Formats: sequence, C-alpha cells, structure tokens
Amino acid sequence: MKEKYKILNFSAITDKRGSLIALENLKNIPFEIKRIYYIFDTKPEFPRGAHAHTNLEQVLIMIDGSCEIILNDGKISQNIILNRPDIGLYIGKNIWREMKNFSYGAKMLVLASDFYNEKEYIRNYDKFLKVAK
Ligand code: TYD
Repeated sequence: MKEKYKILNFSAITDKRGSLIALENLKNIPFEIKRIYYIFDTKPEFPRGAHAHTNLEQVLIMIDGSCEIILNDGKISQNIILNRPDIGLYIGKNIWREMKNFSYGAKMLVLASDFYNEKEYIRNYDKFLKVAK
C-alpha cells in the first residue's frame, strides 16, 4: 500500500549558473502525471485547500516562498512547512489538506495523477470524517 503522505527529496543538478530539478513519471514522482497546475500571487491572510480527494494523488512543491500544510487522515493531524524547491510533499487519496500562512507571492507547483474532476473532491469535513473511517 502506498503511504498516505510523505516527503520526497529531489536531487538538484547544481552548477555556477544555478540549479535544476527534473520530475519524471514513476521515477521521482510516484505516479503518472496527468495534470500540472500552479498557485501564485498568494497572500498570508488567505488559506487554500480544505478538502480531500477520493481518487487523486498529488505532489506539492514550493518552487518559491513558503506555506504550511495541515494533513489529516481522519485520525491524526500533522503540520508540515514547505519552503524549499527540492522538497515535494506526496499526498495520497482521502487525506484532508489545508494550506495556510503562504508567504506573499509564493509559487506552488502541483503535480496530479488525474485530470480535474470536481466530483472526486470532498469539501465537507464531516463527510470526509465518515469516508476516512
Ligand atoms: P480550489 O479547489 O479552491 O483550489 P485550492 O485547492 O488551492 O484551494 O480551486 C480553485 C478553482 O479552480 C475552483 O473553481 C476549481 C478550479 N480548478 C480547476 O478548474 N482546475 C484545477 O485543476 C484545479 C486544481 C482547480
């Protein structure tokens, strides 16, 4: 069984010009990537997320800036600070996530295992707790 969530450490190729990280299906990303989106123009006073996915895996990467992710599997809640472009946060199915304390103008890259489908979102916390049981 895949982990519910885990930190992924990406190897950067660094030289005097800067650094580069490559992300590849089923290599350093533990699923086939079907969708990429990114969040930018963030502000600390506006949290995001507050939902779970019944049928989606994702990897979140803070390309620039920082934010705090709250993960909850229905039993245990854990806060993780993302603030490095060489760290990814894998989130499996049926995990409630909230994203808060974004730095101004942070840039979060998200890789997803499937296309956007609002029907597989759980946006109600009580409903999530029933599903997570
Ligand atoms: P939302 O779920 O509120 O974003 P977050 O997870 O960061 O809180 O999504 C914002 C809007 O964008 C909402 O109307 C759904 C839409 N959306 C898409 O159309 N495609 C996508 O791939 C995503 C992630 C969201």
